[in-house]
Amino acid sequence: MKYKCLNPIAEVGLNIFTEQYEKTDDMNQADIVLVRSAAMHEMEFTDNLKAIARAGAGVNNIPLDKCAEQGIVVFNTPGANANGVKELVIAGLVMASRDIVGGVNWVQTIKDETGVGKLVEKGKGQFAGKEIEGKKLGVIGLGAIGVLVANAANRLGMEVYGYDPFISVDSAWNLSRDIIHVKSRDDIYKNCDYITVHTPLVEHEDPNINTKEMINSDSIAKMKDGVIILNFARDLLVKDDDIAVALKSGKVAKYVTDFPNDKTANMEGVIAIPHLGASTEESEDNCAMMAVKQLRDYMENGNIRNS
Ligand code: MLT
Repeated sequence: MKYKCLNPIAEVGLNIFTEQYEKTDDMNQADIVLVRSAAMHEMEFTDNLKAIARAGAGVNNIPLDKCAEQGIVVFNTPGANANGVKELVIAGLVMASRDIVGGVNWVQTIKDETGVGKLVEKGKGQFAGKEIEGKKLGVIGLGAIGVLVANAANRLGMEVYGYDPFISVDSAWNLSRDIIHVKSRDDIYKNCDYITVHTPLVEHEDPNINTKEMINSDSIAKMKDGVIILNFARDLLVKDDDIAVALKSGKVAKYVTDFPNDKTANMEGVIAIPHLGASTEESEDNCAMMAVKQLRDYMENGNIRNS
């Protein structure tokens, strides 16, 4: 059986393959494929290909319709990187509230002068921030990641509102009772100081299900003045043109994301980093192990599971 990795996949996962699995560089020879973020939409699939496993949660880099037509099973690894993403989102909340980025840059600009300590102390007034304790956080999307973010923020003293039209039994079970479970996105928009999105990218005619560009001029108009928005989920959940306008007017005070783009990356109020949520040793190992186990279970026993 031949497998191909379209992205580097953690060794600890690949080691689970037994000797009957052989690595190939040739996509046309592969029975199974492991992928992280490589875009697969333009690729041709031969009849050899039986299954694709994404070492991550989102599957929008995989042509699901084409796979369904050709009978190729697609796996993802929900939850396997949730803790890594959660920790980065919590860092994002703090970075939006305390000017850590400004402070670091300031120290860098004066680090070669003498008496750095004193100079730094003198200028620090410009970096005063706010605390997140007691502030209202809205979490849109209560899957594995959203639930962890909601619970962690709640433990840090935030008042957390959560919304999800399809919350699973598993997520509901894990969600702290202190989270205020609201019935619409509008309840999040009108109440919250911070809003973080944790949904998959879904294009749908029903606006309650559609998530593509759900953060746009209409939804932003319903939010509090000076709201802080975080997007560590999917790039296209946020309409870049609209967030740029809202940042200019001050309606949105900060936009924190791991999807930098040409329109907003250099704007005042934007904290943008590479898509790093799942880029931890632990998350990469967990995703690789889950993906390889799924592929083996399918190839050897015909089982299809997403755990
Ligand atoms: C995910 O969908 O889980 C992340 O995008 C994973 C990643 O960064 O590869």
